[in-house]
Amino acid sequence: MYKATEAMSSAQVRMVDLRSDTMTKPCAEMRRAMAEAVVGDDVYGEDPTVNDIQLQAAQLLGTEDALFVTSGTMGNLISVMCHCYSRGGEILIGDESHLCMYEQGGAAQVAGVFTRTVRTLKDGTLDLQDLESKIQHGFPDAHFGETRLICLENSHNRMGGRVLPLSYMMEVRKLADRYHLKIHLDGARLLNAALSLGVKPSEIVQFCDSVSFCLSKGLGAPVGALIGGPKQFIANAKRIRKLLGGGMRQAGVLAAAGIVALNRANENLALDHHNAKAFAVGVQALSSPLCTVDPAVVDSNMVLLMLADKVPAQDLCKQLGHTTQMGSEQPVSVQALPMSSHCVRLVWHRDITELDTKLALEKLRVVLQSYSEEPRLQ
Ligand SMILES: Cc1ncc(COP(=O)(O)O)c(C=O)c1O
Repeated sequence: MYKATEAMSSAQVRMVDLRSDTMTKPCAEMRRAMAEAVVGDDVYGEDPTVNDIQLQAAQLLGTEDALFVTSGTMGNLISVMCHCYSRGGEILIGDESHLCMYEQGGAAQVAGVFTRTVRTLKDGTLDLQDLESKIQHGFPDAHFGETRLICLENSHNRMGGRVLPLSYMMEVRKLADRYHLKIHLDGARLLNAALSLGVKPSEIVQFCDSVSFCLSKGLGAPVGALIGGPKQFIANAKRIRKLLGGGMRQAGVLAAAGIVALNRANENLALDHHNAKAFAVGVQALSSPLCTVDPAVVDSNMVLLMLADKVPAQDLCKQLGHTTQMGSEQPVSVQALPMSSHCVRLVWHRDITELDTKLALEKLRVVLQSYSEEPRLQ
């Protein structure tokens, strides 16, 4: 039985926060870059640091232009609004996508755009037959809306960081072209996907008409996302950004951290992917009937733990979060996120070390053991 020591002061406790890669704190280099950033009024297009990051992003994405926005949610909403500028547009999105689950139906609430959901498969792809069947064929008959856009997500958050293969992206492109539809990619973790596939981000984006990616996830910047697309698309996006209240003035202080994040991206993300995989392999080696994971489907920086009936996800997260003295190491608390009643998500990021990963695994082992013992420690 392990010993939970709740009274421990937080300064003594080693917090291993695996809830999300949004938990990263800006590093010293970012803070320095923010303090020293050369800035101007970005609504006038006069912030040199914002202009720099937009140029850098457009090159990375292989798009004509790019736009700095506040968040991934804003990037997705602006993109949907650009693709469905006139009324009566419909979009097709995955039923497990971030756009569907966690963006408050912004397409409907804010943009008046109707959404049809498509079945998401375990690997994060959309079922292509279902996708095709959801396209409206009746337009311009007065009964029908007009399908305009397909949204994909790569890597896929709720499917545990699964990365969509390039061959699949190409299939969706062919289908979209057959029906004259556009494709927007929610690439919040596009750089994770590119690293996992061993390709440049632009090789993924080539199949899409627009893309958004986040600076504030695995890349570790405190704020920001970028949208990429053709020049006219980005000009429209800039208008809509202002409409939504996202016209920031001396935003170079934020973009400066983003530039550091981009320059450091690959080395950081590679370590995250390595640690996530090592953790999954470690969980599999525990051979616990209470908690399973398939390391083969750990494509990037996330691990999904599938739990037996007697281990509710909420409860497991609570047990992991208890401060525990383990061996001679500092007391440890592990934060994780329940994804459903019996699934827990763990996400690796720049602030999680190899030692954190080992401690998290050990903590999981000890907690799982407590579920096998009677009576179980609460
Ligand atoms: C796949 C995906 N898209 C979009 C977002 C939204 O990003 P933000 O939190 O910056 O609005 C997230 C956030 O976790 C995400 O995982």
